[in-house]
Formats: sequence, structure tokens, C-alpha cells
Amino acid sequence: MDLLIPVASGAEASVKRQLRALGYGDCPALGGRIALSGDFSDIARLNVFLRSGERVLIRLGTFGAVTFDELYEGARALPWEEFLSAHSLIRMDGKSYKSRLGAVKAAGGVVKKAIVDRLREKLGVRTLDEKGERAIVGVSLLSDVATLTLDTSGEGLHKRGYRTLAYDAPLKETVAAAMAESSVYRAGKPFADLFCGSGTIPIEAALYALNIAPNAGRDFDFTRWKCAPPVLGEARKEAEDVRDRKTKLRLFASDISEKAVSIARYHAKRAGVAEHIVFSCADMRRFSSAEPYGVLLSNPPYGERLKEDDLFSLYRDFGRLYRSLPEWSCYFLSGYPAAERAFGGRADKRRKLFNANIACGFYGYLGAKPPEKDR
Ligand SMILES: C[S@@+](CC[C@H](N)C(=O)[O-])C[C@H]1O[C@@H](n2cnc3c(N)ncnc32)[C@H](O)[C@@H]1O
Repeated sequence: MDLLIPVASGAEASVKRQLRALGYGDCPALGGRIALSGDFSDIARLNVFLRSGERVLIRLGTFGAVTFDELYEGARALPWEEFLSAHSLIRMDGKSYKSRLGAVKAAGGVVKKAIVDRLREKLGVRTLDEKGERAIVGVSLLSDVATLTLDTSGEGLHKRGYRTLAYDAPLKETVAAAMAESSVYRAGKPFADLFCGSGTIPIEAALYALNIAPNAGRDFDFTRWKCAPPVLGEARKEAEDVRDRKTKLRLFASDISEKAVSIARYHAKRAGVAEHIVFSCADMRRFSSAEPYGVLLSNPPYGERLKEDDLFSLYRDFGRLYRSLPEWSCYFLSGYPAAERAFGGRADKRRKLFNANIACGFYGYLGAKPPEKDR
């Protein structure tokens, strides 16, 4: 099957590295989606192991469509009966960009009609009761080309299951994982998130450093499809086999809000990594460390609630704190336009990274590399 993995803008390189590590080679990325091929075992592995992909989709077909008739005919020609049953609960999801068929809802309606007509004919039934397993059909129109997909994940892959309580402006788990994966953080190094909020960054960093598959404990839509063999167990077993149970991490997480720290601690427990993270309630300005070669990885505030002066001095003090740490590296994600200037210098690495459709800068300041023997 042709598979597509939608990825947040800015996280493509990280997901490609994750795919390479899972043995899928160099997969091409196009229009915010990474393409590869695989069977249901691969679908199970990708859903369980990928840290920063948003979903795993099966691409049923791609064809040109500038009229609703062309969209209907193209959709009806695809083998939906190989995946869906007379009871499938068909849900439509769509987007259109630079296409004459710009009315996404109407396009979804046309595709659904084509699917229903095809299923009635091929399955020999008069009606579809839609009382069974969910199947989310994606209709993506890009420059007058329609791509129709089936979503094997169901809930987005950022929904790991550990984050059940809300605190201010939480970061998407998939984005936090891409930040950790793109940084120089590895097991054994000191680590600190001094603006930890609900705990997403230290939790994802711990999952990453211990090679714990982020979605081994959750369910996916494809497991309820009649066409899918029972392959999730194998992927979960592989996840059990490869996780590092020996290493003890040295992660530090703090926040100025006591409520945030208690939520983060609770989430870390639910994610099974609480023993690796020391939590503390403190202003970030109070942090110090004599240990060299650590990593700061954070998502400081940048919303409207802080006044410009306060925001500028917060980033200025964060930069000063960073420069007081011996050979540390610092990475932060922020939507504050003056972040780099306030922090006190041009970042060594800088790229745009989207957190739930908000364009942010992901800045990296690199400390010296540790001697070869300590790397
Ligand atoms: C954008 S949120 C972090 C969200 C977090 N990454 C998550 O996923 O939940 C910024 C956090 O910085 C905290 N904060 C604000 N000023 C601070 C300071 N001076 N020292 C430490 N934490 C601070 C806020 O309480 C808030 O939780």
C-alpha cells in the first residue's frame, strides 16, 4: 500500500530521521506529507513508534479533478470495498489549496456519495447502516489534483494518552518530540526545561532517550477494520523489546507555577517516566548547574499576557542564565519576534516550526562538544 504521513511544517527532517531509524530508508517528503509503502505490519509499527508524524494514512488514489463530476468518477473508481464494510462509519476530512474545487465540505459530500454508491454495488447491499467501525476518509485537493486517503490512526498521533490535564498553552507532543530529536540531547547528558508547563518537553525527551515507543499503549482505527490482520500485538512486543530499561536519566523540569509542576509530575507518572525527572517549582532565573555539556530545551511564554517589557527581560535573563552554564547547549521554541535579540545573540541554528498552526521559531545555541570519550 502507498502510505502518507502528514507532518507539521518544520518537522519533516526529524520524521525522516525517525523513519530511517525504523528501517524505512530515505522517504520523500512532498507538500507536508512523507511517502512510503508498506503493509499492515508497517502501519502498526509506524503508528506505535513514530514520535513526530501526525497520522498514518493509506493513499487510495490520486487523480486530477476540476469538476465535481470528475471528483465523483475518480473516487468511485477506487477499491473502497477492500477496506470498508457495509457497517463502516464513514467520516470525511478535507482541505483544498490552489484548486478550483475550493468548497471542501461539498467535495467531501461528493466523495462520500461515490464511496457509498461503490460499496452498495460491490458489497451487494441496499443501504449502509454506518453503525460499525470508524473510517476517516481524507480528501486533499492540491493544485486541482485530488488525493484520497484512509486514516489508520483515528485520533492524531500526538494523543499519546498521558496528557489528561490542561495547563496554559501546552505544546503538541509531536512537536516536543521533534525538538528533542533535533537537539544534541542524548541519555547521560544533563537536561533542563525551565518552563515545563504541563511537562510535554521533558516527558518526550525521556521517551526519546529511553527509546520508548510513544504510542505503544493506545489504540488505532485500523485495528477495528475487517481487512486488517491482528498485527498491533507484534508492534507492541517490538516496542517492549527495544526500550531501554537500564539507563537512569538526569532530567530536570521546573516552572514558576506550582499548579503546572504538579500537573507535569502527574503526566510524567502516567507516561511511566517520573523516576527520570526531578521536578521543582521555581523562577527559571534561579537555575544553576556546575555540570558541563547539558542541554536546555524549552518553550518559554510568548503570548499576549506578558507585557512587551516583561517578555523582553524574561528572554534577556534566560540568555544570561544560559551563558552562565558551562558548555551547555540551549534550544527554545517561541513565537516572540524579538526572542533572539532579547536572548542576546544570533542562534547557531534557526528554523520555522509550527505548533498547532502557530508559526514559531526554533532556535538552537550550541555549546562545545564533550570530549570523545564522554559523548
Ligand atoms: C508556553 S508555556 C510552556 C508549555 C509547556 N511546554 C507544555 O507543553 O505544557 C510557558 C510556561 O512558562 C512558565 N513561566 C513563565 N515565566 C516563568 C519564569 N520566570 N520562570 C519559570 N517559568 C515561567 C509559565 O508558567 C508556563 O507554564
